[in-house]
Amino acid sequence: MPRHVAIIMDGNGRWAQLRGKHRTYGHKAGAEAVRAAVAFCRKRGIEALTLFAFSSENWKRPEQEVSVLMELFFTVLKREVKKLHKHNVRLRIIGDVSGFSERLQQRIREAEQLTAENTALQLNIAANYGGRWDISQAARQLAERVAAGQLRSDEVTETTLGECMQLADQPAPDLLIRTGGEHRISNFLLWQLAYAEFYFSQVLWPDFNDREFAAAIADFSCRERRFGLTSEQIQQAILDTDVTAEE
Ligand code: IPE
Ligand code: IPE
Ligand code: MG
Repeated sequence: MPRHVAIIMDGNGRWAQLRGKHRTYGHKAGAEAVRAAVAFCRKRGIEALTLFAFSSENWKRPEQEVSVLMELFFTVLKREVKKLHKHNVRLRIIGDVSGFSERLQQRIREAEQLTAENTALQLNIAANYGGRWDISQAARQLAERVAAGQLRSDEVTETTLGECMQLADQPAPDLLIRTGGEHRISNFLLWQLAYAEFYFSQVLWPDFNDREFAAAIADFSCRERRFGLTSEQIQQAILDTDVTAEE
């Protein structure tokens, strides 16, 4: 079982267009699929779920689509946060929230504060998020500490930089799912996905259901994660842990 699953929820626009509807209709349907994915993770005991909802590049879309997405984000937050809290889900928004309206920022803060102590599932929503933004904001934090004399430049390492990245307090994603048929990362968690297993689904996001999610998990469970080691080393490590477990 993966501890942390990340999902690029792609294909809302095409899902709507296939039905002769406006793209925004697909985004509304996509919000329902989010609810199902969260419930799936709770039932399966997955610790963390990170969903890509809006990229830093998505601002370039037609103004009307962007404003519908912002409004949807606002209403879904309002509607769902009590239910999430009831189900002991902890919510966090990752991304540059300063790009949002003050009203939306306020709602985000309230939702995060309300759910801050919850422990059943960590739900991260990536909104106005870009992997390059994440790396550069981390670099900026370290640069400021170096300039202030609190850190030496030779202390800028993978560890200290990693500590400044979004999600640093959570295990790295084990599994990345992208729906909608594209085989690309689209500036999602560039740093954090270094050793994630990738799973691509043809299914458009609003059609992504428990069966599709279970298929992704089943595929993941057949992978051998080697982290740079050889297969023999991995097999030996598994034997060693089995022996320790028996003792
Ligand atoms: C993903 O679906 C949702 C967002 C990017 C906000 P799309 O809107 O990208 O749907 P397609 O890929 O155009 O079908
Ligand atoms: C990635 O989807 C972003 C989200 C799912 C929020 P896009 O539809 O924006 O990605 P590209 O443009 O096809 O790479
Ligand atoms: Mg898309």
